[in-house]
Amino acid sequence: MNRFDGRVAIVTGGAGGIGGASARLLAEQGAKVVVADIDEAAGAKVTAEICAKGGEASFCRVDVTAYESVEALVQFAMDTYGQLDIMFNNAGVFGDGLQNVIDMPMETYHRTIAINQHGVYYGIRAAAAQMRERGGVIINTASIYAFIADRNQFPYHASKAAVVGMTKAAALELARYNIRVVAIAPGMIDTGLVDAWRADERVWNTIQKAHMRRKLGTPEQVAQVVAFLASDEASFLNGHAYCVDDGALSFKR
Ligand SMILES: NC(=O)c1ccc[n+]([C@@H]2O[C@H](COP(=O)([O-])OP(=O)(O)OC[C@H]3O[C@@H](n4cnc5c(N)ncnc54)[C@H](O)[C@@H]3O)[C@@H](O)[C@H]2O)c1
Repeated sequence: MNRFDGRVAIVTGGAGGIGGASARLLAEQGAKVVVADIDEAAGAKVTAEICAKGGEASFCRVDVTAYESVEALVQFAMDTYGQLDIMFNNAGVFGDGLQNVIDMPMETYHRTIAINQHGVYYGIRAAAAQMRERGGVIINTASIYAFIADRNQFPYHASKAAVVGMTKAAALELARYNIRVVAIAPGMIDTGLVDAWRADERVWNTIQKAHMRRKLGTPEQVAQVVAFLASDEASFLNGHAYCVDDGALSFKR
């Protein structure tokens, strides 16, 4: 008997680092997984890998900035697998270029908020509307940047703090339907999202040193936490954001 036998999961950002690793692990542990992403080619690849290993997965294109698209994604899961038990609202961007309070183009701000914040709200809303009949788990990807500030990353901080706030408020409201809502707050994880910093050795060293064991995390390490939070073993966990950061927030640098 696998941990997630008989369960259906949606993973947004499922084509990416954390989402891809989580989709693979959930499927390995028995879930039927809808890999959802705006990047069709990469999403189809993750889906094919899962199926090739004997797992059950389907790809559905989604743009999390459009509520109709997220609703259609949830409907796709219902039409394909007949239920929805786990919603992992994970799609997100870091953004590039100027991101400081005064000079940042408004478009940069709005785009980051649309994906990282509105996208999570739409996912909570569409999933909960289905889950309220039989309960479920909603996991949102925040960041340690919800809790601390760095320069030139203003919209990212704003959006991830909002994810933590939405997690608490939704958990409280949805408790009556036996829907748990939790968030993960990763430190720096070695995915495409941090590629821009890899080339500069000085910057890369600083990022590594931000963690107690001076290394970035892997998407697979985060996926293990996601699977735990989605499982019955985590049945008393609700309404919090859990740091997955090798202690990054716990020491002075
Ligand atoms: N990598 C890190 O260091 C780190 C740290 C903390 C939090 N996070 C968060 O983890 C989540 C996953 O990021 P990752 O590190 O795996 O990066 P990633 O770039 O590998 O994955 C992000 C995925 O989101 C998808 N996406 C972007 N815009 C979308 C949209 N409008 N609709 C649907 N999908 C869209 C991308 O196509 C991509 O596949 C993000 O929310 C990110 O903010 C990452």
